[in-house]
Amino acid sequence: MDDRSLRELELLAVARLYGLDARSRSDGDVPVASAPSGAPVEAGASRGAAVPARADRPAVRDRSPGEVAVPAPAPACAPEVAGIGTMDWNALKAVVRDCNRCGLCKQRKQAVFGVGHESAPWLFVGEGPGADEDEKGEPFVGQAGKLLDGMLAAAKLQRGREVYIANVVKCRPPGNRVPSPEESAACAPFLDRQVDLIGPKLIVALGRTAAIRLTGQEVSLASLRGRVHAYRGIPLIVTYHPAYLLRNLPDKSKAWEDLLFARRTMAAAGT
Ligand code: URA
Repeated sequence: MDDRSLRELELLAVARLYGLDARSRSDGDVPVASAPSGAPVEAGASRGAAVPARADRPAVRDRSPGEVAVPAPAPACAPEVAGIGTMDWNALKAVVRDCNRCGLCKQRKQAVFGVGHESAPWLFVGEGPGADEDEKGEPFVGQAGKLLDGMLAAAKLQRGREVYIANVVKCRPPGNRVPSPEESAACAPFLDRQVDLIGPKLIVALGRTAAIRLTGQEVSLASLRGRVHAYRGIPLIVTYHPAYLLRNLPDKSKAWEDLLFARRTMAAAGT
């Protein structure tokens, strides 16, 4: 058995502790992502790009793989944030904290900036804060966050160590609705500056809102999985949102395949 198989078996053992094991599938396969580590990198959304017309919240079903993918609509426009390209972490945090670029600022308790190592090789991007995150000021601290932490642990990753976690929008959409294209566009410069400051080696989009925002393709999440996309020149992999996985337990094994694929992509990048 070669080193890679051994590593994947070791990860599989840990994954079982978190209920991520795909061996419960009838075919008994070890969960390995279909795409090879050297899979081609696809051109993704360009700098400052593209916010789709509609992004389904994880509660909303994904289109089935057979459904026709519609091309991404023209990006919603939002004014630039003056001087953002030269902002350091403190300046960026201050601007996000006081932001009123869209209506989400009216009902938030606080903006949820992001958390993690500021030079993390891994960047995970979710949709937007929920009630727990709005309360605590940190992304993914509710039930979905617990699952995310479990998935990270199974992949031998940890928030704050080699991982940074951010969201497409920094303020809670009321009632946990999907952020509108305008809201996502208003927040896009902040996420883009976070990407530039962190300089991650790999980005993982969690769920359809992040996937559409970062790939610029308004298609099903299923159709974006298993391939290496790119965002601002950085390899990007798409997987399910943890909140979706809480309601669709069988898809946990697919998310696990995606994480293994992400690990292999990272390893191929020499990290
Ligand atoms: N869902 C998200 O997309 N982000 C969070 O921070 C929490 C839940």
